[in-house]
Amino acid sequence: MRQVKCFVIGGGLMGSGIAQTAAQAEMEVTVIDVSEEALAKTREKISDSLHRLERRGKLGDASAVKERIGYQTDWAGIPEADLIIEAVPENLALKQRVFQQLDESAAAGALLASNTSCLSITAIGAATKRPENVVGMHFFSPVPMMPLLEVVKGRKTAKATVERAAAIGEKLGKRVIIAQKDYPGFLMNRIWLPMVNEACYALMEGVGTPEDIDQGFIDGYGHKMGPLRTLDMAGLDVALAAMEALYEGFGDPKYRPCPLLRNMVEAGDLGVKTGKGFYSYADVGGD
Ligand SMILES: NC(=O)c1ccc[n+]([C@@H]2O[C@H](COP(=O)([O-])OP(=O)(O)OC[C@H]3O[C@@H](n4cnc5c(N)ncnc54)[C@H](O)[C@@H]3O)[C@@H](O)[C@H]2O)c1
Repeated sequence: MRQVKCFVIGGGLMGSGIAQTAAQAEMEVTVIDVSEEALAKTREKISDSLHRLERRGKLGDASAVKERIGYQTDWAGIPEADLIIEAVPENLALKQRVFQQLDESAAAGALLASNTSCLSITAIGAATKRPENVVGMHFFSPVPMMPLLEVVKGRKTAKATVERAAAIGEKLGKRVIIAQKDYPGFLMNRIWLPMVNEACYALMEGVGTPEDIDQGFIDGYGHKMGPLRTLDMAGLDVALAAMEALYEGFGDPKYRPCPLLRNMVEAGDLGVKTGKGFYSYADVGGD
């Protein structure tokens, strides 16, 4: 059987993980990014991750997987792609430009997917003349480790496209859930963000310490990690931007971002990546 040809547009944190996962699932993968420097980082990230898996005995041959991944700055080969997953930064105008360009060059039968966390799949699909083929494939970080894939149906996404995206997700070894409607935050972020935002309010109002809030979720609800530490890992700036998207998208005050979260972002306390968030991290930027 012919190998599935998968293109990943944007080889950052998510794109590199998606490309790696697709190559591990025997797909022929091409990563497109804007510069050779960006692609060198993508290649290194994927190589490190694959060799780590190999050392732990979780992967047979890292080199064979690496050989299935190509890297390029141009769009050569897009017309032959079966599946294209976009993972450029979270900016609607940028994503719409990418999808407009895809509409012009991808084959009629290609599945066009966006890994957006919060932007409207409907708005992204509207940049093309084939919104029925545009679908959300929202992976979770780190992609090679996290089992979940949230498939999102835009207003004009065809049922067959949703089914195809779900089948691809399963081929990638993911457990698939489906957001049947395209509202802000889809299924997961709509529930998770207000919860972590409320944890910030509880802290701001002095109801509990970060340690007690987090421990409560571990011992009381069986979570692996409490909400504030999870925010530190995800990046407070990323969470604030997503919370703002919910607030704006629903126009409902129940989604208003916590002032403490905003305050910490303004101060540059973004979590693990800056060495300080709700907790301090000596090993800044560490694994
Ligand atoms: N970080 C997360 O935990 C997470 C989780 C789920 C979904 N997402 C979503 O995934 C997407 C990517 O996020 P990320 O964290 O990987 O970002 P990132 O900044 O790490 O990577 C983005 C990459 O896209 C490249 N890029 C920019 N413009 C481009 C273009 N025109 N063509 C090709 N490449 C381009 C950049 O050079 C960069 O390498 C966003 O939509 C984000 O909301 C992120």
